[in-house]
Amino acid sequence: MPSLIIGSDHAGYSLKEAVKPLLTELGYDIEDAGPFDEASVDYPDFGNHVSRMVATGERDCGILICGTGLGMSMVANRYPEIRAALCNDLFSAIMSRRHNDANILVMGGRVIGDALANEIVRAWATTPFEGGRHADRLEKFGSCRGADPKTV
Ligand code: RB5
Repeated sequence: MPSLIIGSDHAGYSLKEAVKPLLTELGYDIEDAGPFDEASVDYPDFGNHVSRMVATGERDCGILICGTGLGMSMVANRYPEIRAALCNDLFSAIMSRRHNDANILVMGGRVIGDALANEIVRAWATTPFEGGRHADRLEKFGSCRGADPKTV
């Protein structure tokens, strides 16, 4: 059973709750990193925790939700092992798996509604990575690490 960790901030809390039943239906072993109510919190705290759990391999993949999805994706993509994809539409969700092998799905709780979010989660969870030339491109991400912007 694949393992998944989901986290949000206050602006993503309601959407986090709305997609959890589908994750169970899809067969994931889910860990909810919180928050557990709508009290104001700082998204980097939850984004860091979820990203670390996926980066270290303690969880296979993750979902992060904040108001726009922007802050969470910025936090998650600071980890070299993370490929976080902000997907507020279905096409991006499918392509983020096929071509980018995204290991964290990010959504904006103030951008999309529950029904679309569930469709996005279903598509993301069931679409395989195509590998091949896309894997070669992911290999090149390593050359971005610590790159000097003046010389690349
Ligand atoms: C919280 O107000 C909001 O800034 C946060 O949820 C997120 O959208 C940040 O990128």
